[in-house]
Amino acid sequence: MIPVELIRKKRDGGELSPDELKPFVEAYVKGDIPDYQMAAWLMAVYFRGMTDTETTEFTNIMLHSGTVIDLASIPGVKVDKHSTGGVGDKVSIMLAPLVAACGVPVPMISGRGLGHTGGTLDKLESIPGFRTDLEIDTYKKVIEKIGVVMIGQTKDIAPADKKMYALRDVTATVECIPLIAGSIMSKKLAEGIDALVLDVKTGSGAFMREKERAVELAQTLINIGEAFGKRTIGFITDMNQPLGNAVGNWLEVDECIRCMKGEEVNDLMDVTYRLAGAMIYLGEKSGSIEEGETIARQAIASGAAYDKFMELVQIQGGDTAFIEDTAKYKNPDFSEDVTLDREGYIGAIDNQGIGFAGLVTGAGRKKVDDAIDYTAGIVIHKKTGDSVQPKEPVATVYSNSREGVTAAKQRIQQAYRVSDEPVKPPPLIYGMADKQGYRDY
Ligand code: URA
Repeated sequence: MIPVELIRKKRDGGELSPDELKPFVEAYVKGDIPDYQMAAWLMAVYFRGMTDTETTEFTNIMLHSGTVIDLASIPGVKVDKHSTGGVGDKVSIMLAPLVAACGVPVPMISGRGLGHTGGTLDKLESIPGFRTDLEIDTYKKVIEKIGVVMIGQTKDIAPADKKMYALRDVTATVECIPLIAGSIMSKKLAEGIDALVLDVKTGSGAFMREKERAVELAQTLINIGEAFGKRTIGFITDMNQPLGNAVGNWLEVDECIRCMKGEEVNDLMDVTYRLAGAMIYLGEKSGSIEEGETIARQAIASGAAYDKFMELVQIQGGDTAFIEDTAKYKNPDFSEDVTLDREGYIGAIDNQGIGFAGLVTGAGRKKVDDAIDYTAGIVIHKKTGDSVQPKEPVATVYSNSREGVTAAKQRIQQAYRVSDEPVKPPPLIYGMADKQGYRDY
């Protein structure tokens, strides 16, 4: 294998065979191919793309660069969900225990915040004591015992993806559908799942801003899942404004606790119920997605989902006293309302702007090794279509840094557009895709 030949072949639009791809990726993981050659190949893929066969083979190679967990000894159809990420997307925190409470085992490996988006691991770690760095043996024991487990990518899970993702991050090669699909699916397939539900976000706060690109990504992910014999369903959902009202780690956990206690019902729950319905259906505990949704609603109403969440927090080392009484959590030093200077209707929200506003409060990282302020973030009071008066708060900002509050307020004011005319809010769920194709709702 001569790396420059494979780089040239991809640069000129060729398709690499498994016999070419495998030694190339393996040599990179071993350190026998330098970053500059892999970076050149990734950029060639960015411009030339990959065929479906190539994408599936690429995923397979990354998957087998590490441990593929075997959960066959655990009864039931194991189902996970993956979201392509967004602002205020806290669904996993509720969804995993909710679906487990309905009898479907949920093994979940999640990620950290990326750019303007938050990450499930950071949110879970805002619960004092909660550990996401479990070894694979413990991961297996936890799912066996309580039917749900939530951890981060270990060094043994898809190490090729870990190394290539870090390189893509600094070589402007992240936004490429076959590379994203291979990266996501190599990690999901390593978890030991039997089926997968995808939440592919679109809009101003998503990595795939245009719906057509989101559909393309969903279909690529579904093709890979099905090629590996895993039933895969995807939903295209809106990310033109934060999901729910909280943006920031503990603030989001707090919102989830209120939702699981049945105290709050909002757009967040509509997305959660749809995804739960699909997971319960794929987990063979309902005859349809709709019936799965009804079962999920009952599990929230009965408190079964909340009880399963408490079990999860406890077994992964978290202090359940903070879940039982969220007022015990330390408040940040500063909080201020954000107002706009005119009346009208919220016409649109630049959701990436809200994500970056959250980041400057301290809720996200500017550099890889930055510490997170778990108490920091934003609570949104006005969403698209709502009427607003001058001096009426559209959001409240929380931070332990006064500068963070000032910077976030400015960004939020810039992110909101006010219209004189009434505005219809964007749809929440655009449609659904499976191996038969995509259908708009
Ligand atoms: N998330 C991933 O895991 N990989 C990507 O490439 C993009 C988002």
